[in-house]
Amino acid sequence: MDDRRKHRWISFLKIKGSALFWTASCAALAIFLVLFLYVWPEWKMGPEQPISFSHQVHAGVKQINCRFCHSYVDRSQHPGMPPVEKCLYCHKYIIAEHPEIKKEHNYYNTNTPTPWKKVFYLPEHVFFKHQRHIDREIQCQECHGEVEKMDRLKGVNFKMGFCIKCHREKEGTPLGCWLGCHN
Ligand code: HEC
Ligand code: HEC
Ligand code: HEC
Ligand code: HEC
Repeated sequence: MDDRRKHRWISFLKIKGSALFWTASCAALAIFLVLFLYVWPEWKMGPEQPISFSHQVHAGVKQINCRFCHSYVDRSQHPGMPPVEKCLYCHKYIIAEHPEIKKEHNYYNTNTPTPWKKVFYLPEHVFFKHQRHIDREIQCQECHGEVEKMDRLKGVNFKMGFCIKCHREKEGTPLGCWLGCHN
């Protein structure tokens, strides 16, 4: 190999090497940004919802009763999320032109249930109903946390110990869990 060719060869590798270096750095930075902007907040404050609904505004500042929106919580095994009609009850008039509220109108007009993301759940084999708990006047917050202070809801990882602890303290609760709480 003569000197000139060797020289060209080396500079070619240098360029390749630095291109590789920059590509790798950019990729690392991109991954970091994605983690920081999307994964971290979801993990820290719960999933982003299709409409930026805030419990803090509604249940906190405006003091709307939980049961107004979650009407079936004491009656149904799967109380679910409020239907969009509930929202429009107020938002037909209140800030009706707000972009987030327009999304609501859109769901309503196209007959699409709002695709809320569920944040609280139990494994399939656990038997849980709200009804008897609410009849005994256990506050929503005992299990769900201070919902009225949260913008986005963050789930709680319900462990069996959490259920048992309270069941030990209160009378008339099932403790034989394999009979009481597991299917
Ligand atoms: C004793 C604990 C406890 C109390 C008290 C409680 N919850 Fe729950 N809640 C749960 C658990 C556990 C789940 C998850 C249930 C599941 O996955 O089947 C849940 C789920 C929910 C869901 C989602 C239901 C669905 O169909 O996706 C809503 C809404 C809800 N609770 C609202 C309330 C409200 C409002 C109150 C107060 C009136 C309340 N909860 C009181 C434990 C509780
Ligand atoms: C009982 C009346 C009422 C109901 C029901 C209601 N809201 Fe609201 N909502 C309000 C009021 C009052 C405000 C504050 C308006 C303002 O800031 O001027 C508000 C504000 C908002 C905002 C804007 C918050 C912000 O960031 O500024 C959104 C988005 C919203 N509501 C979504 C919903 C959704 C989704 C539902 C149904 C699940 C719903 N609302 C049900 C009364 C209601
Ligand atoms: C104005 C209507 C409204 C009011 C009032 C309201 N909620 Fe909600 N709630 C919603 C909507 C909409 C969702 C779904 C979006 C979300 O998770 O933020 C929801 C979700 C939830 C969930 C999550 C269920 C799941 O598994 O994802 C719980 C728990 C809950 N609400 C409890 C409460 C409690 C406790 C109160 C009273 C302190 C309350 N809510 C007041 C509208 C309301
Ligand atoms: C803060 C206290 C408390 C917590 C937390 C709690 N429970 Fe209960 N639970 C009670 C009380 C009180 C009763 C008795 C209600 C009655 O008097 O009928 C009860 C009753 C029950 C029953 C029998 C009544 C029915 O609905 O069929 C089941 C099953 C049950 N709980 C499951 C659970 C599970 C699963 C969890 C955890 C996700 C849980 N509980 C968390 C207080 C609690």
